[in-house]
Formats: sequence, structure tokens, C-alpha cells
Amino acid sequence: MSVQPAPPRAAVPSTTVFKDDLFKGKVLFCTGGHSGICKEMTRALMKHGADAYIVGRKLEKGLTAARELSAATGRKCFFSQVDVRKPDTLKEAVNKCIAEFGRIDYVIAGAAGNFLAPISRISENAFKTVIDIDILGSYNTLKATLPYIRETRGSILFVSATLHFRGLQYQSHVSAAKAGIDALNAVVAVEEGPRGIRSNIISPGPIAGTEGVDRLTPKGQMDKANRIVPLQRLGQFGDVTNATIFLFSEAANWVTGQIFVVDGGEHHTTTSLLPYPDSVLNSEQTDGMIKARA
Ligand code: COA
Repeated sequence: MSVQPAPPRAAVPSTTVFKDDLFKGKVLFCTGGHSGICKEMTRALMKHGADAYIVGRKLEKGLTAARELSAATGRKCFFSQVDVRKPDTLKEAVNKCIAEFGRIDYVIAGAAGNFLAPISRISENAFKTVIDIDILGSYNTLKATLPYIRETRGSILFVSATLHFRGLQYQSHVSAAKAGIDALNAVVAVEEGPRGIRSNIISPGPIAGTEGVDRLTPKGQMDKANRIVPLQRLGQFGDVTNATIFLFSEAANWVTGQIFVVDGGEHHTTTSLLPYPDSVLNSEQTDGMIKARA
């Protein structure tokens, strides 16, 4: 008789675990907060009492997200159009956040870019683009907000990944970038720890409903994507947001310099969603499996 996997456990709402007013009076500054995982991380902090300032490249999407987050949580949320590769636009947004709220307690450096392509088929500029958005963008975010989180003895969370823990085909650009962010985090923890600042990484695995999973899961591979996760499902936003709340909360006040993986155990498995070694020997054969840019 064949043994079937146990039914997967769903993420629980944060309000069933954490106090409603956990972050009352606190302010979050979040890059990439107008969409995907970072938007849900912002929503989670706001649901627990924080106000927020979110930044991103898309003006209409950002303004709509800020309005929606405010309406859904009853907290204040503002948006500025920012490209994290441009330090001046970031500093301007931080100044506006300070003018509005007078403080920053928590920072999420989450803006990122990705696509599936082997080294032989991405240009030098494409590789640099992802390095610039992910590493320089994270550094620029840190640099612009650090004076303010020093004042509040605040906390920063960089959004990384797990794909660089091993050599994953078609992800050279992002692997190099995320490894750099992980390294940066360790130094921030050491340099800023004596000032009371905590710096950590949150590394989500594949989260359902994100642009990442939608675009980066090869066509026809969604079922397999679920099955190769030891906990037998893709992540849900709640899995990441619950971990975010923990890491920003006082419950984590002796946790710094860490890489906090939320992936249902996925990075411990070795199964690839792309056929190997065919995907690297004859990469044109995978073209039909890869979704085009939106
Ligand atoms: N495959 C190969 N190369 C790609 C690519 C893809 N899917 N998408 C972009 N590039 C290349 C471009 O061709 C360009 O290189 P080139 O000048 O040699 O032609 C370079 O990357 C920059 O692209 P561009 O569109 O000008 O830059 P951008 O800053 O607007 O785009 C990206 C940023 C690259 C991250 C883009 O993929 C993007 O905006 N993605 C959507 C957001 C996203 O990725 N979210 C995260 C999901 S996990």
C-alpha cells in the first residue's frame, strides 16, 4: 500500500498569535512595499499598530497600495516613487517619512528583480541590473535610514532568498546578489549591534501568489513545485509575515545577523524544476517553459 503525504498545514493569521498593538507608535519604512511579499509584510506590521512609508518604481500601483493598506488596517501609509538604485530619490523619501511621522523604527529592504536565464543568455547589463537593484538598492536603503534607526534603536530586515545556498541554474545574477545581501547583513549586525540595532535576513522560499512564483516557476511545473517542498505546499504570505512580526518584535531582541529561512524546508531538497542537465546544455529547449516578461 502506498503511503500518502499528510495534509499540509496552512499559515495561521498573525492576529491569533501576536498582540494587536504590538507595534503601536512605531513606523516602518519599506522598499518594494507596493507589491508582493513586501506589501504583505507592511500590512502585517500595520495590522499590529505600525504606520508605514512604502517606496517603489511604479507610481499608480504605489499610491493605490498605500490607500488600500491604510483602508484595510486603519493606520497611515504613504508612498513615494523611488528607484532604489538612485540614492537621492531614496533619501528624499526618507526625509518625507521623517517629516510625516518623525521617526523610523523598522526598515524592510525588499526591492528586487529577477528572471530566469542562463549565464550564456543574459547580457552584462542584465546581470548588473539585478546586482544594482538587489545589492546597491539594499545598501542605499540601509545608508538612507541608518541615522534614524540609530535614534530609535530600531531594526532592519533584508529580504533575501534561498536559491544561492546551492548552484541553481538560470539564477546566477540573483544568486550573486542575494549572497551579497547576506554578507552585508552580517556586517551591519556587528557594526551596529553596539548601538542597539538588530539586522537580520528573511529568506522566503516559493510563496504562492507572488510575481516571483508566477514568473519563475517553469510552465507546467506548479504541481511539482508543491510536492518538492518537505511541508508539501508552497508558502503563503502569512508564513513570511508571521516570521517578520517575530523578527521585529521584542521576542527576537537577542537575534541579530541571522538568516531566517521560511521555506517549508525547500532548500534542503535537491530536485530541480528545470530538466537537468538539458536546461544548461540545450537552453533553447526550455524556452517554452519560461514565462515571458509582463
Ligand atoms: N531575460 C534576460 N534578460 C533580461 C530579462 C529576461 N527575462 N529581463 C530584463 N533583461 C535584461 C534587459 O534585456 C536589459 O539588458 P540589455 O540592456 O543588455 O538588453 C537589462 O536586463 C535591464 O533591463 P531593463 O528592463 O532595461 O531594466 P529594468 O531596471 O527596467 O528591469 C528587471 C529590471 C531586470 C529586474 C526586470 O526583469 C523587471 O522589472 N522585472 C519585474 C520585477 C521583478 O523582477 N520582481 C521580482 C520578481 S522575483
